Order: sequence, then C-alpha cells, then structure tokens
Amino acid sequence: MPPRPAPSTPRPGPWLVGGEGIAYGGDYTPEQWPEEVWAQDVILMREAGVNLVSVGIFSWALLEPEEGRFEFGWLDRLLELLHANGIRVDLGTPTASPPAWFFHAYPEARVVSREGTVLGFGSRGMAGPSSPAYRAATVRITTALAQRYGRHPALALWHVHNEYGAPVSEDYSPASAAAFRRWLADRYGDLEHLNAAWGTTFWGQRYAQWEHVDVPAATPSVANPTQRLDFARFSDHALRECFVAERDAIRAHSDVPVTTNFMAGSCPATELWQWAREVDIVSNDHYLTASETRPEIGLALAADLTRSLAGGRPWILMEHSTSAVSWQPRNVAKQPGEMARNALSHLGRGADAILFFQWRASRSGAEKFHSAMLPHAGTGSRVWREVVALGRDLGALAELRGTQVRADVAILWDQESFWAQDLEWRPSVDLDHRERIDAFYTALWQAGHTVDFAHPEADLAAYRLVVVPASYLLSRAAGDNLTRFVAGGGTLLVSYFSGIVDETDAVHEGGYLAPLRRALGLTVEEFLPLREGGSVRVGGEHRSDAGDGSAPPMPELEGTVWSDDIALEGAAVVSTYLDGPAAGRPAITRHTHGLGTGWYVSTRLGVDDLMTLLDRVYRDAGLSARAGVAGLEVVVRHGVGVDYLVALNHGDAPVAVAVDGHELLSGRATDGTLKVPGGGVAVVRVTPGA
Ligand code: GAL
Repeated sequence: MPPRPAPSTPRPGPWLVGGEGIAYGGDYTPEQWPEEVWAQDVILMREAGVNLVSVGIFSWALLEPEEGRFEFGWLDRLLELLHANGIRVDLGTPTASPPAWFFHAYPEARVVSREGTVLGFGSRGMAGPSSPAYRAATVRITTALAQRYGRHPALALWHVHNEYGAPVSEDYSPASAAAFRRWLADRYGDLEHLNAAWGTTFWGQRYAQWEHVDVPAATPSVANPTQRLDFARFSDHALRECFVAERDAIRAHSDVPVTTNFMAGSCPATELWQWAREVDIVSNDHYLTASETRPEIGLALAADLTRSLAGGRPWILMEHSTSAVSWQPRNVAKQPGEMARNALSHLGRGADAILFFQWRASRSGAEKFHSAMLPHAGTGSRVWREVVALGRDLGALAELRGTQVRADVAILWDQESFWAQDLEWRPSVDLDHRERIDAFYTALWQAGHTVDFAHPEADLAAYRLVVVPASYLLSRAAGDNLTRFVAGGGTLLVSYFSGIVDETDAVHEGGYLAPLRRALGLTVEEFLPLREGGSVRVGGEHRSDAGDGSAPPMPELEGTVWSDDIALEGAAVVSTYLDGPAAGRPAITRHTHGLGTGWYVSTRLGVDDLMTLLDRVYRDAGLSARAGVAGLEVVVRHGVGVDYLVALNHGDAPVAVAVDGHELLSGRATDGTLKVPGGGVAVVRVTPGA
C-alpha cells in the first residue's frame, strides 16, 4: 500500500473577537427577569467562569415593539453591564420569532404546511422564508442592530437567527410557490429541461406552462419524487438566502464574525456543506436523546460532523444542556459527571467554545422545565456545582485553543442522499441511510477511530479509508471521485443501496451501482430485499485478502433487511449467502483497482459483525483497531510540537491508560499511567518524542 499524504492543517479562520482560551457560557435571556437580577447574574457568571453569553435571540418584540420603532435602552444597559464584567457577547438577530404586529400586518407571511394548514402566532418559528415582507423586516431589524452595536467593545460574535430549518423548514404558501418557480427557472432554463429532469411523461405529469408548476403539496398518491427532491433543495436555498441577507446587512456595519447555530446531524432541512461556506465560524447545537442507548456515540458523531463542516477549524458548541431538556417524551436528567464528559467530548473533537442553553432557567413559557446552568434549585444544587467545576476545568485547558483533530477515516455525508432516500416507494421500508451511517460510525468509534465526514465530491486524498453508507443518490462526479480515490491507493467500503440514482432521482444508466462499477468490480443485477424481520447467513471458505494468505476466511455473519443479486466483473468473493433469496451468490466482495481496494457489503450487518468486517478492511487501509477498554473514549488534539489526549471514561469502573505527560485538570504528571475514574475525564499534554 503506498503512503498516503498526511492530512493538511487547515488555515486558521476567524475566531471570537477578544476570545482567548476556551469560551464558556450560554444563552442569556435577562429580558425575562427584573433588572436587579442582572447584577446577581453577572456575579454568578464570574463565579462559574462564564466569559461568553448569547443575547437577544428571541427579543424582536422588545427591540421593535411597533413596526419601525426601536427600543434599545435595555440592550444598551445589558451590554454595558456585561462589558464592565469582562463577559463577551454573542449578539443574536431575533428573526426566528417575529412579533405579533408582524403577523397582524402581513398575514400572508404565515407558513402553510404541506396539508394546507396556515400556521398561527403564539409559539416561535419564523414566517415563510420566501415572504418579501418577512425578508424586508429581518433586514431592517438586523441593520438597526448592526448600526448600533457593530463596534461595541463587548461584541465577540454575531448569532444570526436560531437553528434555520427548525421548527419550520418547508413552506407551501403562494409566496413560496412563486419563489419555487423562479428557482426552477434558474435551475432548468426552460420547461423542456424541467420535464426531462422530473420524468413527467410518467403518470401524465407533463407541464406546458410555468404557472402550472407548483409546490408538492399533499397529493392523492405518491408525489413526483424529483419534484419533492427539488422542493427540498429550494427550501434549503430559501432559508440560506434569508441568512445571507442578514449576514450582509451586518457586514455593512461590523467586522465582527457572523455565525448561525447548526443542528448538524439532526436537521433534515439544511445542506450544511453549503451553509458552512457562508458562515465565518461554524457553530452547532447538540442535545442527547433519551432513547439512545449509547448517547456518547451520537454526540461524538455530531461533533465529528461539525468539525468536518468547519473544514477542521475550531468550532463553537453553541448549545447543549446541563441536564434534562423539555421537549422529549421523557426528559431524562444527566447523571453526575455526564455533563462534563459531554462537554469534553465536544472539546476533544475540536470545539473551542462550550455553551449551553441556557444560563438561568425560565420560570414561564414552554421551556420552564428545561435545565440551565443556574437551575430553579439555585446555587445550592448539584448542577450548579458541576457548572462551576466545568468552568474551572475549561480554564485549565486554555492552551488547547486552536489545536487540531486528525482522522484517517471518512464517512460520506450528503444531505441530497437523505432527501432522495427518505421519499416514498423505495424498495423496502427498512432501508435507512441514517441507520447505516450510525452503524458504521459506531463500529469505528468502538475501534477507537476518529472519523471525519466528507461530501462525496470532496478531496479524499487525506484519508486511508472511506465508507459509503447506503448513499442512494450518488452523482457520476462523486462516483468518479471515489473511483480515483481507490485508484490512488485508498480503501473504499461501500454498503448496499449506494449509487442507485443520479441528481434527478433517475436510476443510473448502466444500472444499480454503475458509478462505482470500476472501483468495486461488480454491478447489482436485482435487489433482493428480505421480508419483515428476516435474516440471512453469510460466510464460506473464501479468502479476504489479496491471495497472499494474510487473512483467514471471514467467520459466519448475519445479515438483515437486504440482499443483492450481484454480477461480478472482476471482484473476489469474500463471503457468500448461505441461505435466503440470494443463496449461493456473493454477499461481500473485495476488488483491487489501481493501487487501492474496493469492498462491497450487500446486506445489513449489525455493529459487531461490521467490526469483524472492518478488521479485514483495515488491513488494506493500513489501519488497525485500537485495543480499547470498553466505554473509554480517547481523542487527540494536535498542536505544534505537542499533543493533547482527551480521555473520557463512560463506564463505572476506573481505567488505566498508558501515557506519559502532564494531566491538565489535576495539574499532575501521569508518570506513565493515567488513571481515569469511573465516569471521569482527563486531558493529558504529551510532548511527542520527549
Ligand atoms: C434548541 C433551541 C433553543 C432551545 C433548546 C432547548 O433547539 O435553539 O432555543 O429551545 O433547543 O433544548
């Protein structure tokens, strides 16, 4: 296997103005409290080591109580107070929640759901993103804020809107339909191209006039899938236009960097590779889901995805929770120590700012049962003590600021593939793109690998192994990119139901998997999905190496959900179906292409079986699983001539890690062995070669 180039160090990007060390804090909503409470807040913020707060995110109704009349007095006083106390400000534009007067004046700006319901006021959620009145009003309030505070000495960052795409992602209003037609005209030029892309000869859907092209509102049977895919693209584009308009209004008056908080991995509406190019600093919100059995793995995935979106540069954890949230069916409190492990996992995976929703728990409103840094129980509480301890710990980690995380493995992440695959009438309801991403990620996490995520058309040269996790929509360009990666010496692992359709949701010419045919040495002749709850055995006496005897046959594994009838075009069979609809046919294959190797796995393997398969795949990639201790998460941040090993013990029993360095949280040398108590965290400065 030829040596692969070392991952390049990303160019440093802009960072919080005046930000040194690791930023710490949260959303701050002092407008919910009398002003005498503010003075108490800043005293407690200093006690907790808070140095950054996000303000004004939902304050439009207070800042502009009537159309065009602004009241900035309270925000002036607040920013002065924070500045005087050395707490920096992430200033929100309040456009995620327009005031009552706006909807009264512009009722046509209300969002219409797919079923035709007009959504009312009294919650949050922006107006229709394509509404001209909404766009004008957002630029006006944003301009007023930028003019007034753009050079304020407390200002570290601009926080545009809040979580674009939630709770509203698609709007089926007349304004949206008009904007959709304009977007389609830009994309296709004329109706002939639109008809061809949407395949409208099918079911007699051909359009002869632009006015007849509409948003894909509820239909009697399955809607045209390409129309829906394009509507998802358009809806994302419309949201991004709203962001760009606000960002540019800010930039006209302020040099302070601009962000908007993503929900990487949990917002289906936004194509974040494109969003990441528009922000100055990537920031993300992440919440644990009570139903996850290993929430630390989902958290790590979201953090790795965010770092990848940031191009490897430091990013901001804009929101997470100190304990329970308030919007799940059962809002499970965090266990003692869990908050610190969560925070340090984000930090270990590249976050240089650790913030929460929110500073002080709200007494009223929909989120009054949500945890906070300062809970209803006050400063006598466990949560408060842990918040203060975390602030102290982050203070001790200041030197990690700006250091980098490196990964040898990438998993493809492509929002378009999600949009296309999640539509109706796919070959099996059990197909699930996200499930495969999670399964591959979990297997890699358990083997101790730090993972990047990559767009299918991105430069992959820095990786040894790239995983294609049921990437249903895969363009020819992406197929060529992945094939070049293999030819150049990379190892590619491709799951079933990848490379099926192109950007228009049309089956690839040349059949299923055609874009990866050369890299994998096969095509798929027919899908053979399993019945509900069905399983198949795969195994056999085949070699899983290049014929040099370095790898024994694969043990017998179990597949569920899917099998394929594979037509081999040069690939070697690693495992055969022992039963099921594809009995006797290839199940797992390995193919040498150029200097690299392409693996194909045509059934759904569980995480343990994936780990067995990956052990073989690692040999080709020149990787190995780290013999890890169950429940111990280790990530490394690299500085100039120094590494930082972040160790998180998710288990109950203490674990020992062989490492020689200086543990920063305790201030002690490790003397060759680091002991991490059950549930504990440690960060060791290691000087390679010292
Ligand atoms: C986020 C949102 C916050 C708050 C939080 C509660 O999605 O941005 O404003 O609602 O959830 O967990």
